[in-house]
Amino acid sequence: MRLKAIVIAVGFCAVGAQAKEKAVDMSRHAEYESGTVMDRIMAHKFEQWKIKLASGALNNTQWPRLSYTKCVNGFAEAVQGDALHTFRCKNMDLYDFINHATIGSPLATEEGATGSSIWGWTDPRSGREFIAVGMYQGTGLAEILPKGRLLVLGFLPAPAALGQHALWKEIRAYKNYMIIGSELEDHGIQIFDMRKLLTINPKEAPVTFSIDDVTGHFKDLPLGRTHNVVVNEELQYAVSVGAVPREDACGAGLIFIDLKDPSKPTRLGCNAQDGYVHDAQCIRYRGPDKRYLGHDICYGYNEDSLTIYDVTNKANSSIISRTSYDGASYTHQGWVLDPLNQEYLLLDDEYDERDAVGPAKDGYPVTYIWDIRDLQNLKNTGFYKATNRGIDHNQYVIDGLSYQSSYGAGVRVYDVSSIPADPTGTSVCEVAYFDIYPEDDAEPGGGTVEFAGSWASYGYFKSGFIAVNTFERGVYLVKITKRERCQRIYA
Ligand SMILES: *[C@@H]1O[C@H](CO)[C@@H](O)[C@H](O)[C@H]1NC(C)=O
Ligand SMILES: *[C@@H]1O[C@H](CO)[C@@H](O)[C@H](O)[C@H]1NC(C)=O
Repeated sequence: MRLKAIVIAVGFCAVGAQAKEKAVDMSRHAEYESGTVMDRIMAHKFEQWKIKLASGALNNTQWPRLSYTKCVNGFAEAVQGDALHTFRCKNMDLYDFINHATIGSPLATEEGATGSSIWGWTDPRSGREFIAVGMYQGTGLAEILPKGRLLVLGFLPAPAALGQHALWKEIRAYKNYMIIGSELEDHGIQIFDMRKLLTINPKEAPVTFSIDDVTGHFKDLPLGRTHNVVVNEELQYAVSVGAVPREDACGAGLIFIDLKDPSKPTRLGCNAQDGYVHDAQCIRYRGPDKRYLGHDICYGYNEDSLTIYDVTNKANSSIISRTSYDGASYTHQGWVLDPLNQEYLLLDDEYDERDAVGPAKDGYPVTYIWDIRDLQNLKNTGFYKATNRGIDHNQYVIDGLSYQSSYGAGVRVYDVSSIPADPTGTSVCEVAYFDIYPEDDAEPGGGTVEFAGSWASYGYFKSGFIAVNTFERGVYLVKITKRERCQRIYA
């Protein structure tokens, strides 16, 4: 047993020495800047979606509700003897599963009923916990009951005619509101007051809200589309990123939206200096670089670079630095390790596994570690790799743990608390996971390098419940059972 553990640890540990920051590759930059790379990735995703649609795989009514299932010897067998309901797991139990149709999305139609982002909200008075589930047709709203069962309360439809770009919906919280954006044309950004859920009588649930049941609706986007929405709650604004077209004056970069009065969201300015921004994290700067103490900083994930902006003045923001790295293929998203002491951040690249480049050559997802102590000179100090083949996606860091939604490999939790002491990444380890996509488990390496399975999760709840939204089926509710320590065999 001990030997096996060590072998796994060796296989898992990354060779951090290969990591290296570098200048943006200008020979390839034009292909990113023009949108050719993004379009190619989106075309691939549409193709996958159509194949699934044609095969009936997106008819999510076929997936029954599941009940509590303990993770035993690496498997949570939610339906006895059924491979499609037997989930690989580690230190995580299943509490509930509800398909998208039940959460509010009508039956799978010709257009599908896929899921995308998810976020959560806790009522500050009662402590009750709620989730907002991004789906093709709108946003599903549910409560997590104390024993770990979901209660579907409502559905907020998308405020525009559905089309294939409705596949992308992104949700973040601002105080008691959900900020909901989509790639769907004319969707704009909905601002929904979650306190509306507090008074719904369970006997009358689910309630279908009308598109007018929002507190605010921000429509000042070139085509009404945004790839993502980002919130800086402390400084009371949101940011639309990736609001195409790229030829727009804001370049599909950062568009700042004042949220001081959520019923009247207004533009504060934009930054087009590095063109398209795919995702970002905007927070007040608290870190060792004294030049920026107290400034308002955005960490931008910009397709072929990690770009740092000083956005203190929304009407005249500027770029501090722009850095690429070995293996850069599609710089996708990331998170600062500790927002209260901004020294390191984690970056996920969404296409390095498919392009089989850099440290992702073998198809095992790579998370890139950055030393950001000097905001003008970033260093890629190392990386860590997943134990399962696939593609890494959205992550966030809470209390030294990074929660990553790794498509077909499900939700993966890494202990990243070692990074300040060992920024090579060799001391990082995977402490828990729940693989919600058994369909690809028999593939070499336990998964496919494909866009399927889980898109995002939300794990900030005090109760410890983690809600995982998936592309095909619905929402899983899981919980970590034990926080194991990493075996620091190289330390
Ligand atoms: C979807 O699946 C359900 C349950 O398996 C089935 O009853 C229904 O006919 C399917 N719908 C379509 C459009 O195939
Ligand atoms: C914008 O900021 C730059 C410095 O970052 C400054 O040189 C310039 O004058 C400012 N422009 C305006 C219009 O305030």
